Amino acid sequence: MIIRRAHSEDLPWLLEHEDASEDWIGRCIALGEYFVAERDSEVVGFLRFSRFWGKIPYMDMIRVLPLHQREGVGTALFHAWEGAMIEEGAQHLMTSSEWAEAEPQAWHRRNGFKAVGSIDLRIVQPSPEIFFVKDISDIRKV
Ligand SMILES: CC(C)(COP(=O)(O)OP(=O)(O)OC[C@H]1O[C@@H](n2cnc3c(N)ncnc32)[C@H](O)[C@@H]1OP(=O)(O)O)[C@@H](O)C(=O)NCCC(=O)NCCS
Repeated sequence: MIIRRAHSEDLPWLLEHEDASEDWIGRCIALGEYFVAERDSEVVGFLRFSRFWGKIPYMDMIRVLPLHQREGVGTALFHAWEGAMIEEGAQHLMTSSEWAEAEPQAWHRRNGFKAVGSIDLRIVQPSPEIFFVKDISDIRKV
C-alpha cells in the first residue's frame, strides 16, 4: 500500500467519491490537504484536512472504499497525516463526527482522540456534532 499526497490526476477519483465541490477538492489538492491510499495502482481511500482557526490540523473527512475497509487502510492514512503534522510542529489534532454515528466515534477514540464537547447543529443534521482533540505535543519527530 502507498500513502501519498493527492495530486491533480486524482481529481476525477475524488470527485466520484468525495462529498465536496470540485472547487474545494481542487483547492485542497493544491494546498496539500489530501492524503490518498493506493493499492495495486488504484486509489482506495482518502483523508482530507484543513485547519481550525487556520492553525490546528483538523481532519475533515476520512473514507475508505467499503471493499477495502478493516484492512488497515484508514489507520495508514491517519498515521501518515499525523506524522506529517508532527513533522511540521503541530501540538494538537482535531476532528469531529455526528453524535448518532457511533462507529466513526469509536474509530477516532481508537486513534487517541478524546471528546471535548459538542455543538447543536440541528439546522443541518439530526444530532449534535461531537468534537475530538488529540494531544500530540509529546510525540517526538522521528
Ligand atoms: C472509519 C474508516 C475510515 C476506518 O478505516 P478502515 O481502513 O476501515 O480501518 P482500519 O482497518 O485501519 O481499522 C483499524 C482498526 O479499527 C477498527 N475499526 C475499523 N473501522 C471501525 C469502525 N467503523 N468502528 C470501530 N472500529 C473500527 C478495525 O477493526 C481495526 O481494529 P483491529 O486492528 O483491532 O482489528 C472506514 O471504515 C470508513 O471509511 N468508514 C466510512 C466513512 C466514515 O465513517 N468515516 C469517518 C468519519 S469522517
